[in-house]
Amino acid sequence: MNKETLTITDNRTGKQYEIPVEDGTIRAMDLRQIKTSDDDFGLMSYDPAFTNTASCKSRITFIDGDKGILRYRGYPIEQLAERSTYLEVAYLILHGELPAAAEFEEWTWEITHHTLIHEQIKKFMDGVRYDAHPMGLLIGTVGALSTFYPEAKNIFDAEKRSKQVHRLIAKMPTIAAFAYRHSVGMPYAYPDNDLSYTGNFLNMMFKTTEVKYKPDPVLERALDVLFILHADHEQNCSTSAMRGIGSSQADPYSAVAGAAAALYGPLHGGANEAVLRMLNEISSKANVPAYIKRVKEGEVRLMGFGHRVYKNYDPRARIIKQIADQVFAVTGSNPVLEIALELERIALEDEYFVSRKLYPNVDFYSGIIYQAMGFPVDMFPVLFAIPRTSGWMAQWVEMLNDPDQKIARPRQIYLGYEEREYKP
Ligand code: CMC
Repeated sequence: MNKETLTITDNRTGKQYEIPVEDGTIRAMDLRQIKTSDDDFGLMSYDPAFTNTASCKSRITFIDGDKGILRYRGYPIEQLAERSTYLEVAYLILHGELPAAAEFEEWTWEITHHTLIHEQIKKFMDGVRYDAHPMGLLIGTVGALSTFYPEAKNIFDAEKRSKQVHRLIAKMPTIAAFAYRHSVGMPYAYPDNDLSYTGNFLNMMFKTTEVKYKPDPVLERALDVLFILHADHEQNCSTSAMRGIGSSQADPYSAVAGAAAALYGPLHGGANEAVLRMLNEISSKANVPAYIKRVKEGEVRLMGFGHRVYKNYDPRARIIKQIADQVFAVTGSNPVLEIALELERIALEDEYFVSRKLYPNVDFYSGIIYQAMGFPVDMFPVLFAIPRTSGWMAQWVEMLNDPDQKIARPRQIYLGYEEREYKP
């Protein structure tokens, strides 16, 4: 009979060990019993960047990177993008089920009624330089929110925790839009509770002197779909940061500030901004082959390409390409689109990219749409952080309720000096 175990022979000692296999995984702590002597610490596994280590058990997001599958709570991303709304998806991710009508009404009310930020926060934002990158301002401001809501430290009080979840999902768009208005010297536009989540965000971004801002319904829906696609992505860099910081029982504002900081880097959520800068640098379709040559020589990376988990077309990139047409019908096309299409065409045929299974990821086309919608390039990582907040919150709550979890504290392999005497 097949047994769900692994037998390990330690060739250093000739000893055998039988280790349980559960969910296709062994527990790293089961390796510790493998020792060469009584005073040996025991075997560890070495996994920089956690390429083959599960840090948690989760029921939120499923990815099959080889098949290009993404599901939230079991629902395929394609169905959610077509039929759902971002707020509904945020509820699903957090609560595990799609909301019934009354639940959705209450949820929407809670989010809508927490969109305002304290006037002191506005002053805090005013304190940074006029040309501050909005992502830096978002990270600083969301961290500062913890000083406004000291009760957020009660992370094991489910009711207080829910309140912070509402506040964070509600206030991120406000802080993001205020960061933008600050950077262009425009007066802050306050939230409009008559509008949808994305409609209100567009209002706070782009309202000028009109009495009531009316978002274009196509752009409002396109942004909503983009938010759905960015809501969660299991244990990526920023979510791991969220869980890592949260594991020390820090309040959720401090943890989200850390998660957003992890997102900011060009290999993660900052890639959408990097893609646009790359397309601008390439500047014309004719320069694409020369740029691909530089990529293959290892001089630069093709931003918006490749993924740790997807070794197939990122399903989010496929959906984004479809939305692009709807957006461009309203805004007119983005001239850099033809450069992006040419890059994709050449890369998908080229042995370098094919053998490494490098395909366009979510960031390759998203920035082109954001730019056509009128968002400045600096705002792109911020546009990632807003919807990812619901994913961070869901993963954080799941971690707090997981009896297996403790403070995150990896081991190291020490390769430095042995003890030595101090030399004056
Ligand atoms: N351009 C050129 N070569 C690449 C790229 C790229 N974008 N990505 C990976 N490679 C090569 C890499 O040089 C390596 O080649 P070799 O085996 O010859 O050394 C091979 O492919 C494997 O790469 P890796 O660095 O081991 O892969 P990783 O899993 O550590 O990195 C990644 C994943 C997303 C950081 C990387 O693909 C990358 O830097 N992409 C560009 C940045 C980007 O678009 N990031 C957004 C990711 S999706 C949204 C998100 O998570 O925020």
